[in-house]
Amino acid sequence: MDAKTKKKYLVTGGAGFIGSNIAKTLEAQGHEVTVMDDFSKNGHFKNLIGFKGDVITADLFEYMPTDMYFDAIFHEAAITDTTVMDQKAMMEQNVEAFKNLLNFAAENEIKKVIYASSAATYGNGPVPNVETQPTHPENVYGFSKVIMDNVARQFAEDNNDMTIIGLRYFNVYGPGEYYKGKMASMVYQLYNQMKAGKRPRVFKYGEQQRDFVYVKDIVKINLCALNNGKETCVYNAATGIPRDYNAIIACLNKELGTNLEPEYIDNPYPFFQLKTQADMTLAKEKLGYEPDYSLEAGIADYVSILEGRNSK
Ligand SMILES: NC(=O)c1ccc[n+]([C@@H]2O[C@H](COP(=O)([O-])OP(=O)(O)OC[C@H]3O[C@@H](n4cnc5c(N)ncnc54)[C@H](O)[C@@H]3O)[C@@H](O)[C@H]2O)c1
Repeated sequence: MDAKTKKKYLVTGGAGFIGSNIAKTLEAQGHEVTVMDDFSKNGHFKNLIGFKGDVITADLFEYMPTDMYFDAIFHEAAITDTTVMDQKAMMEQNVEAFKNLLNFAAENEIKKVIYASSAATYGNGPVPNVETQPTHPENVYGFSKVIMDNVARQFAEDNNDMTIIGLRYFNVYGPGEYYKGKMASMVYQLYNQMKAGKRPRVFKYGEQQRDFVYVKDIVKINLCALNNGKETCVYNAATGIPRDYNAIIACLNKELGTNLEPEYIDNPYPFFQLKTQADMTLAKEKLGYEPDYSLEAGIADYVSILEGRNSK
């Protein structure tokens, strides 16, 4: 790659699940990538094995570097445990840290920021979720993402040479989520149970649907936002096709060569969502984004990596 096409990017939360996938992909494309992560949450150095760039170890809420230029920032750092009830911590780490980052971008003439929003902004709102529908977060995590979307819109109005794009990720699964522990995806949780020879446990009768999206498609939509996103806006980031837990189990049985029947257990949560689904029209029209992976293709790729048959 020549000096003209080689760009400099910052990935916050780059030692985490999605951030490390973005960082490594940008680097593989020949760009110079810097990661910023505080390593005090889910960030883990093992997600960055083979990474050739710099790593700034800092909490974005408390510290921002000065005098650094990047062609764009990918902001993935956040408290991502949706069960955290500490409202102050959630708002500081997710919203105030984001404001620090936007001010850093404006001061250093960084014109493009792409940040992770979330489907949690919709809560139990009607599906398929459209970006224009009212937000209705069910927890402080979702609330923090709604406020990030508000802050981004306002900040771009005040700094109209900047483009700030929010991507509302739905249920992401794929390599790099090991360090998320109990917050790792259902695909990974069920894989672990089945790999141990146990029957996969899901709530009765495994028919709840989610818009599961493979992390490689999440990297893709970030790159679409980088290359095609012309205006400040929020976009859904998913497949648009909801699938149920029984379908995950069927895919895993196929990929693992097992025949384990699901064990259906009572659902203790009265308000458990029956279905999540993104309307992907806007991302398709404005970003030119189409997912590459069906649930079958995503799980096949993921299992081949987990089983050590494929390193990419
Ligand atoms: N994984 C999903 O299904 C999903 C769905 C919707 C939205 N998101 C969003 O995507 C982004 C990435 O999520 P993920 O799944 O990779 O989670 P993750 O927890 O693996 O990654 C987050 C990273 O940010 C770091 N971090 C957190 N607060 C920080 C701070 N103040 N300063 C510096 N680093 C900090 C953590 O150490 C971690 O490495 C998050 O913003 C999350 O809210 C994820």
